[in-house]
Amino acid sequence: MKFQKLAIISLIPIFWLLLLAYAAQPPFACHPSDPLTKSYPFCKTTLPINQRVQDIISRLTLDEKISQLVNTAPPIPRLGIPRYQWWSEALHGIAYFPANSSTYSIHFNGKIRAATSFPQVILTAASFDAHLWYRIGKAIGIEARALYNAGQSIGMTFWAPNINIYRDPRWGRGQETPGEDPVLTGKYAMSYVRGIQGDSFQGGKIGAEGHLQASACCKHFTAYDLDNWNGISRFVFNAQVSLQDLADTYQPPFEKCIKEGKASGIMCAYNRVNGVPNCANYDLLSKTARGQWDFNGYIVSDCDAVAVMYEDQGYVKSPEDAVADALKAGMDVNCGDYLKDYTGAAIKEKKLPVSEIDRALHNLFSVRMRLGLFDGNPDKLPYGNIRPEQVCSKEHQNLALDAARDGIVLLKNTGKLLPFSKSRTKTLAVIGPNANVAETLLGNYNGPPCKTVTPLQGLQRYVKNTRYHQGCNAVNCTSAFIKEAVEIAKGADHVVLVMGLDQTEEREDFDRVNLVLPGQQQKLITTIARAAKKPVVLVLLCGGPVDITFAKYDPHIGSILWAGYPGEAGGLALAEIIFGDHNPGGRLPVTWYPQNFTRVNMTDMRMRPDPSSGYPGRTYRFYRGPKVFEFGFGLSYSNYSYEFISVSQNEFYFNQHSSGHTSRNSETIRYTLVSEVSKEHCEKGKFKVKVGVKNYGEMAGKHPLQLFVRQARAGNGGAIKTLVGFQSVNLNAGERAQIEFKLSPCEQLARANKDGEMVIEEGSHFLIMGDQEYEINVII
Ligand SMILES: *[C@@H]1O[C@H](CO)[C@@H](O)[C@H](O)[C@H]1NC(C)=O
Ligand SMILES: *[C@@H]1O[C@H](CO)[C@@H](O)[C@H](O)[C@H]1NC(C)=O
Ligand SMILES: *[C@@H]1O[C@H](CO)[C@@H](O)[C@H](O)[C@H]1NC(C)=O
Ligand SMILES: *[C@@H]1O[C@H](CO)[C@@H](O)[C@H](O)[C@H]1NC(C)=O
Ligand SMILES: *[C@@H]1O[C@H](CO)[C@@H](O)[C@H](O)[C@H]1NC(C)=O
Repeated sequence: MKFQKLAIISLIPIFWLLLLAYAAQPPFACHPSDPLTKSYPFCKTTLPINQRVQDIISRLTLDEKISQLVNTAPPIPRLGIPRYQWWSEALHGIAYFPANSSTYSIHFNGKIRAATSFPQVILTAASFDAHLWYRIGKAIGIEARALYNAGQSIGMTFWAPNINIYRDPRWGRGQETPGEDPVLTGKYAMSYVRGIQGDSFQGGKIGAEGHLQASACCKHFTAYDLDNWNGISRFVFNAQVSLQDLADTYQPPFEKCIKEGKASGIMCAYNRVNGVPNCANYDLLSKTARGQWDFNGYIVSDCDAVAVMYEDQGYVKSPEDAVADALKAGMDVNCGDYLKDYTGAAIKEKKLPVSEIDRALHNLFSVRMRLGLFDGNPDKLPYGNIRPEQVCSKEHQNLALDAARDGIVLLKNTGKLLPFSKSRTKTLAVIGPNANVAETLLGNYNGPPCKTVTPLQGLQRYVKNTRYHQGCNAVNCTSAFIKEAVEIAKGADHVVLVMGLDQTEEREDFDRVNLVLPGQQQKLITTIARAAKKPVVLVLLCGGPVDITFAKYDPHIGSILWAGYPGEAGGLALAEIIFGDHNPGGRLPVTWYPQNFTRVNMTDMRMRPDPSSGYPGRTYRFYRGPKVFEFGFGLSYSNYSYEFISVSQNEFYFNQHSSGHTSRNSETIRYTLVSEVSKEHCEKGKFKVKVGVKNYGEMAGKHPLQLFVRQARAGNGGAIKTLVGFQSVNLNAGERAQIEFKLSPCEQLARANKDGEMVIEEGSHFLIMGDQEYEINVII
């Protein structure tokens, strides 16, 4: 009797596994018609997630528990729990990852064979349009859910966005980020995360335990922005970061991503910060993220980051120590195998209590539950009705086109060379190694796109008689076909050169050593420009900035466009801009430095300049040296004028609070600590800035307004100016609009002191919009 019952029970899970495999249904736990699952509290959707998770954990053996601590989590058939793959990527569209097909999370061999490929993030950021970022996140979340519902995915945890500050122009992964500014990056993080997770644009729709459309992950926590430079790799790099830079540059995007975006994942980075590996940093993971920022979700190591602590950094004496340190710091799941291989031994050796494993499992199963993976039949779930037709839908593909249109930056347009006349351009020459390579449009962390339009293909839609030459052997342009290219250029009404970089020049694990265009690109460009009938147009496809000073001042080069890696529709967006069907409005999200910036040590994490050693500082906030182009720069076919219409308060009193002194040039500047200002006082200080903007050009345009603040006198380490707000506005030719910004002195007028505390300093502060300034005062 007893025996018989046991036999039946042990057969049931096998039956269900087989059924699931045959039906090719998405793998979910708690199948509604599995009699076993009815009895499990963890399957009861009416119970709080907390209780359900505790129930699962209480049923697992130690070996089963340990098996779940790695990205490729195996099934637990006796409980009907399917395997799970924590690793999926969705940087700018659903991507292929991990590449190994036996452990894949998502595959494109079913009904869904492609996904919408939005522009690489650095270009999307250039739109300065948070609502666009939100809509992209939302579209990606919908496509993720469609793949899951169609049985083509066993993972709903996406390791995006990448929100490290783009600190150094050489960084191979700068292209993946929204740029160098913490406010811009924080806003990007928040908008993208809300979109992909299924929250509203304003946030607050998903509670702490709320259902997730898909899970986002803020990475790489923290101060990670060097891959492989001058023999120093991210695996061993020990970033020396001051408390001040941490507080007002490196951490704010993560704080926004977590506190306001409510991201359900964080990835700790490979590198050490001030000696401590990020994945072993209790202060960072547990005290700051979970404690101060109320993080609710799972923390994953970057892939093999736990192994790296022992094998590359020598930070610990054994693999067991690495595993124990990471779990005790608050990491929950290891991308890699270390936790699978060494957690058992760490427990035996009493380096780690089982309670740390339970704590991690609690976070892991909570996220899987919030994704609805333990709620039975996915058809019945809140996102269960998302169908394959919603992937690569017209709407999503138009959004990818919009993002490219809105991101592309016009850097030069002498004599209004652009836009070209559609009727008078009879012949066109398109030259360059980036003119017709579909793959280049997609940057990295890409999936199979719905379609692609290269710049050449886009331009051919406007001019039938288009002649093309690649100009160089490859993007590295170790040899150029100058004679052939010149021949084509000479005969054309207009010439468009499509140059720049690709993943062979900047990528993960590969930082640049130069900022100039590779090989013979410059020579090719200037030679063709001199031979052409009219000034030429130079288009740059690249993520990171390039020093194109030569082109900026060459009268034979009339116009320059930067198009990042513009995604599946990028070539069409470019052609529309070149022929005036779209008015460019993108703005650079990074400073373009001259080549001699490469004298700066890339490992130097300091944001602030150090005049005594000639260290120039970094980003528009601190770097005072020469620039090729400024952060925030971008032209348009229209011109816009600004005025400050009203500012609801222009004096801010903090005299009732404790204050101290800081000095520069023997000046004394009084300040107050933000932490000592009451919430009510901060609230009372909130003010509205009303700005007028007018399009006095001849074309309608979408125009991003950028509001900065600068201080007349700043204490040690003050920024030149700081972005405090931005909004995008559509204006017809001649149209005027009023835009309101809401600011708080406790946030937008605060900056970090040397101890990493936020302070408000006395004296004049100037609001800046274009060429207009408005003075406000802080009185301490
Ligand atoms: C793929 O993963 C499996 C299981 O982890 C492993 O055995 C195999 O060697 C991997 N294959 C490749 C090509 O990496
Ligand atoms: C230039 O690029 C080509 C094509 O990718 C490659 O085969 C060649 O090795 C590269 N040359 C150098 C010097 O990097
Ligand atoms: C680069 O050259 C310019 C002009 O000569 C100079 O002002 C600047 O300090 C140099 N930058 C670096 C990092 O050496
Ligand atoms: C560059 O920085 C690293 C550490 O940040 C330091 O060890 C090295 O000496 C520096 N090199 C120079 C030339 O300043
Ligand atoms: C915009 O203003 C600039 C500088 O004042 C001027 O050179 C340019 O011609 C103007 N462009 C348009 C479209 O009005």
